[in-house]
Amino acid sequence: MKHLLSTADLSRADAVHVLDTAAEMAATQSREIKKLPTLRGRTVVNLFFEDSTRTRISFETAAKRLSADVINFSAKGSSVSKGESLKDTALTLQAMGADAVVCRHQASGAPHLLAHAGWLDAAVVNAGDGTHQHPTQALLDAFTLRRHLVGGAQGPTAGSGSDLAGLHVAVVGDVLHSRVARSNVSLLTTLGARVTLVAPPTLVPVGVEAWPCDVSYDFDGTLADGKPDAVMMLRVQRERMSGGGGFFPSPLEYSRAYGLDARRLATLPDHAIVMHPGPMNRGLEISADAADSPRAVIVEQVANGVAVRMAVLYLLLEGNR
Ligand code: CP
Repeated sequence: MKHLLSTADLSRADAVHVLDTAAEMAATQSREIKKLPTLRGRTVVNLFFEDSTRTRISFETAAKRLSADVINFSAKGSSVSKGESLKDTALTLQAMGADAVVCRHQASGAPHLLAHAGWLDAAVVNAGDGTHQHPTQALLDAFTLRRHLVGGAQGPTAGSGSDLAGLHVAVVGDVLHSRVARSNVSLLTTLGARVTLVAPPTLVPVGVEAWPCDVSYDFDGTLADGKPDAVMMLRVQRERMSGGGGFFPSPLEYSRAYGLDARRLATLPDHAIVMHPGPMNRGLEISADAADSPRAVIVEQVANGVAVRMAVLYLLLEGNR
């Protein structure tokens, strides 16, 4: 595999290989081996046209821990604001010898264009494009699910620990605008989990019937009947809701029907974990009680993101050699 553009491109074996490699990367970090020489002499460019805290910092940390040189490019303050095209930006990165380009863009498909238009020789990693895909987020989510719920003493499954077979994950909230939901539905089901999307009818995408998951408009019913092993709360993306892109119930209606609060938290099975990709709207899709509870693995998801992104950069830049 030369690029990582979508979790739909990953077979079960591919995904397990990334997760296993990430586990090895995490083990080096826990042994205080902060830096590996693996990508010495390689250049990773973080090309961010849209805001990010976790993903950008995490890719930068991952690349540096593999000894790569890192160039951070933000559209704000660059010649993009003077009208420079994606093509000319890509040709500039090519001239500078980029080996990997990690791209976040507000337009769905921009990383695919970068990878396949012939402007760049670099490996392209999709760091989130529009409402389409965020594959490394789904991989770090799968990594976190596997660590907590598979094969261990506390988890509901007693398998080999290689995939997520037998798990039920509820993905709750603004599915319509969520690249995290799309990436997770594809990856988690490839890994054998059952996924239920829970959302108000106005925030469910057209064509969702064709996705390999269940859909519910009833959060309390899903918690009571589905007994999910993990609840993944999605951010309400108000910035993507202008221009008729989806009716938003009032914040009070939304949090009453679809917010994870202390009452709903108490109905989860004992082993169940609470996830959120961040950034969170505290008090809207998740209460402070839930976000800060011992069941929440939200900060751990961020830490796991470094190991997963180390694995992705390593496999794309060295794994094919
Ligand atoms: N989860 C995630 O993509 O967060 P950032 O937007 O901060 O990168």
